[in-house]
Amino acid sequence: MALALGACLAGGLPTVADGDVERARVLFPEATRARLESGRQTYTLRCGACHEPHDPRLRTRREWEWAVAEMSPRAGVEGERQALVLQYLTTFARR
Ligand code: HEC
Repeated sequence: MALALGACLAGGLPTVADGDVERARVLFPEATRARLESGRQTYTLRCGACHEPHDPRLRTRREWEWAVAEMSPRAGVEGERQALVLQYLTTFARR
């Protein structure tokens, strides 16, 4: 599998497959493919507005919890949408 881990990730962020939904459900029982894809979309559009969206696979769950809490106000993302961004990032986070 060729991973594009360079500076430019546009379009290279991991997409959601069935196995990812299974993995997400361990932590987020309400996770669905549509909800994870919605989180990916918000992440791409809103979190990618100032800088390239960072690759979810390069940070741990804890690092993403911190970053999403810190950055969401800057991105104007809150509530359910913020939770879905975190679910998407956590699902692909470095273990
Ligand atoms: C308004 C502009 C802006 C938006 C929108 C934004 N960021 Fe950032 N982000 C920054 C800036 C500027 C930095 C550089 C470090 C700092 O200022 O804290 C940064 C740094 C980061 C870092 C690196 C932090 C580190 O020190 O390792 C991560 C991860 C990150 N942003 C994630 C996000 C996420 C997730 C979102 C969406 C919720 C987001 N960003 C939206 C401006 C933005």
